[in-house]
Amino acid sequence: MTERGQLWHGRFEGGPSEALQALNDSLPFDRRMFREDIAGSRAHVRMLCDVGLLTEPERDGVLAALDAVETEIADGAFAVVESDEDIHTAVERRVTELEPAGAKMHTGRSRNDQVATDLRLWTRGALDEIVDLVVRVQRTLLAQAEAAGDAYLPGYTHLQQAQPVALAHHLLAHGWALQRDVERLREARARTNVSALGAGALAGSSLPLDPAQTAASLGFDAVFDNSLDAVADRDFVAESLFTLALLGVHLSRVGEEMILWASTEFGFVELDDGFSTGSSMMPQKKNPDIAELARGKAGRLVGHLTGFLTTLKGLPLTYNKDMQEDKEPLFDAVDTVRLTLLALDGMLATTTFRTDAMAAQADSPYAAATDLAEWLVGRGMPFRQAHAVVGEQVRAALAGEGTLADLVAAHPDLGADAAALLTPGVSVTRRTTHGGGSPVAVAAQLERFRATLG
Ligand code: ARG
Repeated sequence: MTERGQLWHGRFEGGPSEALQALNDSLPFDRRMFREDIAGSRAHVRMLCDVGLLTEPERDGVLAALDAVETEIADGAFAVVESDEDIHTAVERRVTELEPAGAKMHTGRSRNDQVATDLRLWTRGALDEIVDLVVRVQRTLLAQAEAAGDAYLPGYTHLQQAQPVALAHHLLAHGWALQRDVERLREARARTNVSALGAGALAGSSLPLDPAQTAASLGFDAVFDNSLDAVADRDFVAESLFTLALLGVHLSRVGEEMILWASTEFGFVELDDGFSTGSSMMPQKKNPDIAELARGKAGRLVGHLTGFLTTLKGLPLTYNKDMQEDKEPLFDAVDTVRLTLLALDGMLATTTFRTDAMAAQADSPYAAATDLAEWLVGRGMPFRQAHAVVGEQVRAALAGEGTLADLVAAHPDLGADAAALLTPGVSVTRRTTHGGGSPVAVAAQLERFRATLG
């Protein structure tokens, strides 16, 4: 028998095949949960002592060995042996080498409740970290919105110029989307922060365990209600993947706009050299790679979500080895979102907004057409009729019958007061309603956004 047989040696005659080990082993990727695994074992060992399953000297010996193993792994001094199938078996094997009472560490515990607990601890920390990074991007958007003052640009629908809006309004639109991500991340964290420890392999234990104690000592808000569900549930992984995927989709939309705005055709932004790349062949190029990668990474994040949901679909209760497929997509999603947020934040913080180019586009008289129609409504004309009157002037101007301003000034229902709405910089000031795009309305919105960020 190989050393590998140790873990479940009783009923096996031969050791595992190489092919099984290569497919089955998760240590290469789950070792990054070593701190969580050791924290879970500390809580478990203390509880075992409190309920009389470990003596105090045994507990202290195992705790000291857990400390030593944590240091070994953190220092890169941990020597993996062939039998180390995953982080749980590796830690237990080494603890037991250092302290014979380590053989009691797995009392009343299975890797099934252990891995669910470890991954919940890891996910909780990761979600907290991502929240902090999203808030950082929100603060950058806020700072740029504040710096934008009364600058304005065309707002778009169908990527066609629609109505002018304050630049701050546009930037804050992304800030609010990120706020919903923050809320979702926090809600996902709340459902993640439930202990599975004490569920055993699937059915609980005949030993006098105290799951509430281990839950409390690990900082969980609650303990599982059903042992079968505790070891079978990976909703917190799926939910985290969804939340990260939607966050990634939001970042892809920011990225896409920065790509457009940085183009020669738009010329709305100048990216900082430190956050742009050049071309190996074309000397004039300055490329928005960060924004493109923000756009591209969203595909990978959506892939992790759909892949993992497909893994879970149809799995019978309770633990199945398929579920070991939870970690790599989750780890990669967190790593991907972390890198994207950091780079995008730097890019946004250093971007120069070409407000002259924005205003030049937004001052197209056609962008004020809705203001003309609303001006007529203010004088009692039904909106449908007003829409038709202005639409006729737009048609005539486009047909070369005169400038829109001249046509409006000469129109019996419109005239000079209406034509004044076409003066550059006027249209953007008109939409002063709650949450609207004028600088006055945006000032109130900035207050709300600041208060939301706290
Ligand atoms: N490495 C495993 C995983 O990540 C740990 C749980 C193994 N449980 C078992 N019954 N084989 O899912």
